[in-house]
Amino acid sequence: MKIYRAVKSFSMVILAVAMAAGATGASAGNRVRWAEKQLAYCDRQIERTLSELPNDSVLPRSIDIDKTSWKTTDHFDWTSGFWPGILWYRYENSGCLAHELQALMYTERQSPLVCPAHKPDHDIGFQMLCSYGHAYRNTGRREYLEKMLDGADKLAALYNPKVGTILSWPHAVKDDGWPHNSIMDNMMNLELLFFAANNGGPAEYRDMAVSHARRTMNHQFRPDYTSYHVALYDSISGDFIRGCTNQGLSDDSFWSRGHAWGIYGFTIVYRETGDKQYLRFVEKIIDAYVSRLPKDYVPFWDFDDPDIPRATRDASAAAIVSSALLELSVLEDDKAKAKEYVTLSEKMLRSLSSKNYQSRKQNSAFLLHSTGNLPADYEIDASINYADYYYIEALTRFRNLYKNKDKYPWLP
Ligand code: GLY
Repeated sequence: MKIYRAVKSFSMVILAVAMAAGATGASAGNRVRWAEKQLAYCDRQIERTLSELPNDSVLPRSIDIDKTSWKTTDHFDWTSGFWPGILWYRYENSGCLAHELQALMYTERQSPLVCPAHKPDHDIGFQMLCSYGHAYRNTGRREYLEKMLDGADKLAALYNPKVGTILSWPHAVKDDGWPHNSIMDNMMNLELLFFAANNGGPAEYRDMAVSHARRTMNHQFRPDYTSYHVALYDSISGDFIRGCTNQGLSDDSFWSRGHAWGIYGFTIVYRETGDKQYLRFVEKIIDAYVSRLPKDYVPFWDFDDPDIPRATRDASAAAIVSSALLELSVLEDDKAKAKEYVTLSEKMLRSLSSKNYQSRKQNSAFLLHSTGNLPADYEIDASINYADYYYIEALTRFRNLYKNKDKYPWLP
């Protein structure tokens, strides 16, 4: 009886220690193994996609909810960087030469984006950073650096010094009567300007990026730190006119992916400037986002959709935010917050990795349930390449954090 009681109380102690280790009760080693299991799943889905693509000059973009095969696209599409980017993360995780060659092949196909005749919009940032950006980071080859600098020149050409921001959509000036428009997604692409300024490009590209961030912070958020998708400015006087939307429910609604781009983008701005006003700001916009999340940590496509809880989700927003929170956690000066961000990110990643969100046998993408553009009736509740890109990035970051736990003693 005495032995039974001793064993029982020992088990209780073990259970209490395990629970104190975190919401999942997982040790660092278990977390690394869990992330590697999800990365192995991504690897299998990549192989399936490669075997299904009709040829290697097209790129997988999305799979509609009622379909099983990829809708493909070309290198001028705004999402064209995400497939090479996914292949770069696979290479980073495997170190396999064949994977590197595959990532390089798709990256080099992006070169028409920097030819003189091509006049891009702000998406040149996504397209270049996710392809040539990873190529340069992984190989250090000068030719890829040159491509990045050429891409940055094209992005900088959209800068209006009177407004102090980049004109995100030149086409919308005429199509929508939107004079100088800057969209929240553009926050992601400031990284190309920072990259150029840090790597031999014009130093003023950094000032452009900082000015864009400052004006976005001042005009594109409401007093409760929710965001407008689009900010309109007078292109002559530079004055802010109003906030509105393209992809959200309404001008005044809280579009989840737009806000996710903001969280990720301001994390980059803080990383690049070290200016604490951006850190304090991104903390507030994270709070606004997290306070509206449903129980499974995957947002509704727009937090103001009156159809909630039946409204469609956006797994891409969850993937973007989970990745941003991991980067921000290592930059945070407040270690309690750093810990909170890793805990939140893990909850998002575990939810995305469940049978509710992983595509598994249903199709060859990683994730289901993203919403591209609901007002345009396009890619609703679909698998989309950018959800997959930020998912594999977040899993890689999560695994690397816990693999190097000694460097981050504050990790939950
Ligand atoms: N254009 C970027 C997005 O749809 O989020």
